[in-house]
Amino acid sequence: MSEAIQSGAADDSADIPSHRELVDETLVKLYFLTALAFLTVSMLAGLLMALQLIRHNPLQGLELFSPGRWRMVHTNAVAYGFLANGFIGALHWIVPRLTLHPVFSRKLSWFIYAAWQAVVLATAGGIVLGEAQGLEWGETPVWVDPVAQLGLLLLAINFMPPIARMKGPVYVTLWYFMAMFVWTFLTYAMGNFVPQYFVTGTSAGAVGGLFIHDLVGLFVTPLGWGMMYYFVPILLKKPIWSHGLSLVGFWGLAFFYPLQGIHHFLYTPIPMFLQYGAVVSTIAVELVVTTVIINFFGTIWGSTSAVKTNLPIRWFYTGMIYYFLTCLQCSFQVTLTFQKVIHFTDWVVGHAHLVMFGVFTMWIMGMMTYLFPRLLNRPWYSQTACEWHYWLSSLGILFMAGDLTLLGLFQGWSWAALEPWDVSVELSVPFWALRVVAGLAMFAGLLVFMWNLWKTWSSVPEQQSSPAAVPAAA
Ligand code: HEM
Repeated sequence: MSEAIQSGAADDSADIPSHRELVDETLVKLYFLTALAFLTVSMLAGLLMALQLIRHNPLQGLELFSPGRWRMVHTNAVAYGFLANGFIGALHWIVPRLTLHPVFSRKLSWFIYAAWQAVVLATAGGIVLGEAQGLEWGETPVWVDPVAQLGLLLLAINFMPPIARMKGPVYVTLWYFMAMFVWTFLTYAMGNFVPQYFVTGTSAGAVGGLFIHDLVGLFVTPLGWGMMYYFVPILLKKPIWSHGLSLVGFWGLAFFYPLQGIHHFLYTPIPMFLQYGAVVSTIAVELVVTTVIINFFGTIWGSTSAVKTNLPIRWFYTGMIYYFLTCLQCSFQVTLTFQKVIHFTDWVVGHAHLVMFGVFTMWIMGMMTYLFPRLLNRPWYSQTACEWHYWLSSLGILFMAGDLTLLGLFQGWSWAALEPWDVSVELSVPFWALRVVAGLAMFAGLLVFMWNLWKTWSSVPEQQSSPAAVPAAA
């Protein structure tokens, strides 16, 4: 199925602009490379923190490398440096090809690229120098916040015009993207300014809870699903199973997701009606997610061999299975009964890695595996290395999430039995050591991928004028 048909813009076929007029490939490549660089930094920071927890910190005593600071670098570099750059790079490919209109301004695209990297670097630098803002996931120093807010506005200004100029019905991918531009702008403002300047105490906690969750649900999730709705039909060469169901997923997310953030703070002094509301809307989201999963498995039905033969599809569908597992996990952990055991334990850390790495990183890696050969106009140097990247990453995260989930239960039971705190720490150490092993496997996967990319880049290009010659449906 062609992208023009997906977008409903097929009537314009007489004057379809060329791929080169639509897509700034250099910028897409740059975004992807920058994303990989930040992922490397983030994983090294994660390993540092993980080693600290098993009392083997190699940089002991160096204030600038204190694990507390690098834990924040770990999460911020992953969210704003890796996921955001990976997704924005893909937006520069998808939106112009789907709408058949270029972004509002290429110069603005380059300005946003530079400004965004300045924001991420200033955030990392500010955190390392002890300037972190005291808000979970909002650690971007206060002097960076207005610049990041402006960057999000400019992003919307650059991508909305091609969508607005498009003719015909709007494909679900673009529904997700349009909503994301608005939601992310509002979410960032809410999380970084409201608790800092306008409310305090439990109210600030409640807003912080909304922010943490909306960052995942209204920024990363619509980007991720929007991209799956774009790439999966192209790669499988067939339409999405049910357009109606895809809209149920979109509106369900829009309606229920913003209400659930307070589930991060169950059993706190935040009023109980808000906590109950968050529990109910979280369970509602699980139902919505199930419809989305059914839609994608309905789509691959009859073509399941693609999981073996088509590596990007395998990355995407593995991510979807992990997504389902994360949500299943969530529907247990959101109940007050379960919270009594797992609150504050490593169960939550396992859950966070399963969704951030197991789902969104897997999807970005699948996209990169698909797009790099088109951007570089040559096949992957080594298919074996591509396979290694996939297996090290997907098994590494499964191992890490399983390890931490189990540990969370043991920690919770130890605390519930009123055992002394240090008993739970001692029992955690072997599990934390296994986390290092899993992390090293995931990191090794990344190194293999970057080596393969380097070798691919330095190999001879194929005899094609441009990746545009690679058909959209390939
Ligand atoms: C080399 C692989 C990795 C290792 C060893 C690692 C390790 C860690 C450690 C030790 C923490 C702190 C846990 C604590 O405070 O108890 C953490 C937190 C976190 N990491 Fe990683 N990590 C890795 C990769 C990643 C990746 C690739 C992502 C995202 C794509 C990620 C997302 C997160 C998140 C979201 C948290 C915060 C969890 C929470 O606050 O509940 N990590 N990681």
